[in-house]
Amino acid sequence: MSYPKPIDDQSYFINSSNYQNLLTQASKNPDAFWLSMAKRLNWIQFPTRGGNWTFDKPVSIKWFEDGVLNVCANCVDRHALETPDKTAIIWVNDAGTTTTPISYTQLLKEVNAMAGALKNLGVQKGDRVIIYMPMIPEIAYAMLACARIGAIHSVVFGGFSPESLSGRIQDCNAKVVITANEGVRGGKSIPLKANVDQALLQTPQVEKVLVINSTSLNVPMVAGRDRFYTPDHTKIVAPEPMNAEDPLFILYTSGSTGKPKGVLHTSGGYLTYASLTHQWIFDVQQDDIYWCTADAGWITGHSYVVYGPLANGATTVMFEGIPNYPNPDRLWKIIDELKVSIFYTAPTAIRSLMQAGDEWLETSSRKSLRILGSVGEPINQEAWEWYFHQIGQENCRIVDTWWQTETGGILITPLAGIHNLKPGSATQPFFGIHPALLDEHGYEIDTYPCEGNLVIKTSWPGQMRTVYGDHRRFEETYFSQFPEYYFSGDGARRDADGDYWITGRVDDVLNVSGHRLGTAEIETAATIDHAIVETAVVGFPHSIKGEGIMVFAIAGAHSPHSDEELKAIIKRTIRTQIGPIASPDAIYIVKGLPKTRSGKIMRRILRCIAKGEFEKIGDVSTLADPSIVEHIIEVFSAKK
Ligand code: WT7
Repeated sequence: MSYPKPIDDQSYFINSSNYQNLLTQASKNPDAFWLSMAKRLNWIQFPTRGGNWTFDKPVSIKWFEDGVLNVCANCVDRHALETPDKTAIIWVNDAGTTTTPISYTQLLKEVNAMAGALKNLGVQKGDRVIIYMPMIPEIAYAMLACARIGAIHSVVFGGFSPESLSGRIQDCNAKVVITANEGVRGGKSIPLKANVDQALLQTPQVEKVLVINSTSLNVPMVAGRDRFYTPDHTKIVAPEPMNAEDPLFILYTSGSTGKPKGVLHTSGGYLTYASLTHQWIFDVQQDDIYWCTADAGWITGHSYVVYGPLANGATTVMFEGIPNYPNPDRLWKIIDELKVSIFYTAPTAIRSLMQAGDEWLETSSRKSLRILGSVGEPINQEAWEWYFHQIGQENCRIVDTWWQTETGGILITPLAGIHNLKPGSATQPFFGIHPALLDEHGYEIDTYPCEGNLVIKTSWPGQMRTVYGDHRRFEETYFSQFPEYYFSGDGARRDADGDYWITGRVDDVLNVSGHRLGTAEIETAATIDHAIVETAVVGFPHSIKGEGIMVFAIAGAHSPHSDEELKAIIKRTIRTQIGPIASPDAIYIVKGLPKTRSGKIMRRILRCIAKGEFEKIGDVSTLADPSIVEHIIEVFSAKK
């Protein structure tokens, strides 16, 4: 199968006449390169210094450290001045009844009002603010308002439970929460304010809750603590001058051990990287209508719905709904209606719409599209082909973008005007990004083709700076297994052309519908109820989610519950501890787990069982009780 080669089009930001030169500059003299890239922002004081970093312990990462700027002023004020009438955000509601364009002038007014409200609540520079909101324009106003006054926001996705929310509030010691009375997605209500009320029973440090009424639902308010948001557009709040290395936001993400980590991103480097990658990778030109379907609760929503597009003065679509509501032609109809030219979504959405059937493509032409993006997990060939042939009708370049919450922006991706497309390959590193593949001993593999652990050798401005409040955990998680490299936790293959193929996580992290969940976190949640003694969680291939969640659980010795009851308990505790996004897809109640004599669970064996690949289990004689494998296979097979 061959795909049309990139058209040698000089109108692309990155084209055949500047690509090689930029690549050379970025690797020969990274500081000069990044300083020149930083010029795309408005600085109060332009930095003299590029990077100042070491991956050697103590790990320290700084970019543009003597620069001063305000992120909100860069995303809003300067465009309100230069392109006041241009549409900044087009908001599309869940029901499909409202499409609201918001100009840069209006955005400035609204962000200013929200900043004023936060100031009235006593929020100051450096304070942490939790944002727990639906995909309504106010979530962007809230993020930008925090940036405007120098507060550090931490957005918590609405699919997380009160328990997860309170954990995050406690970890970053937030004193203000911004929420909405309720969220609406796919026609269903999400009780955001009620969840906040419950979370706050455990978080006395929260002084104020700002509630946006996004529907007519009445919610109880706690006197003195809760306040409805009524925008005051009259008072002007000046953007706070911030050092480039002042924190911009914390975003929690799951790892292989312990509680979710607070990934900390700072101001100047993050915004330079988000804005540059957004413009060059999606080739965002003046008149493009750009749409990324991610929720603002994830890093993709931060970098490629809010900060990157707005820093570039682009028009960004914000969608409150979900791909298959009311019907699986929802996204395609919106593309036609808004004349979307650049569209960025996740393989899980592509697969679910593909399964819905091609008849849902008949209600749209999708002719406005020119670039398609994919993110969040490896995209399988079938889904890629469908995206390319059916959605893009072979007129669009596909950018399969690999990156992580930690990286702030895209690190490996094809560029529309340069690279040959290969379904399933993220192809080449972006300017200034130096990946390597390491073998299990930590040696760089320099043969082609090859496979190994994906690491990055040098820093880039969008890199996370620390785990909030726990720098040691930052060093241990990312810089210890392979000293002096940033370790992504992913494995990858590199083919004979030097193109990268991400093979997925090599640690105990699951990728469910493009969302990261730690197996340890789910295991802890599942054993909260004493009816369950122990669990082991593994991923298994799932035709839509990419990876599904499978739980093997042991009940208490004299458990009065039936297996069905036990499964219900596990589902319920996982949903209350983490949230609906971590709901297991399959649960097996077993008598024991495959453990070594020292008590370590052999997840590898469970992964083989979960895939039905019994023949790959291999030697089990080193297990404390080898017969348990037979038993688990029996339980597994009986339920199929
Ligand atoms: C993990 C990061 C980056 C925004 C969304 C997820 C996987 C991400 C790709 C891709 C293959 C991918 C990796 C990575 N991943 N993009 N294009 N191809 N895998 O952010 O929650 O921080 O998860 O998502 O496994 O480590 P995240």
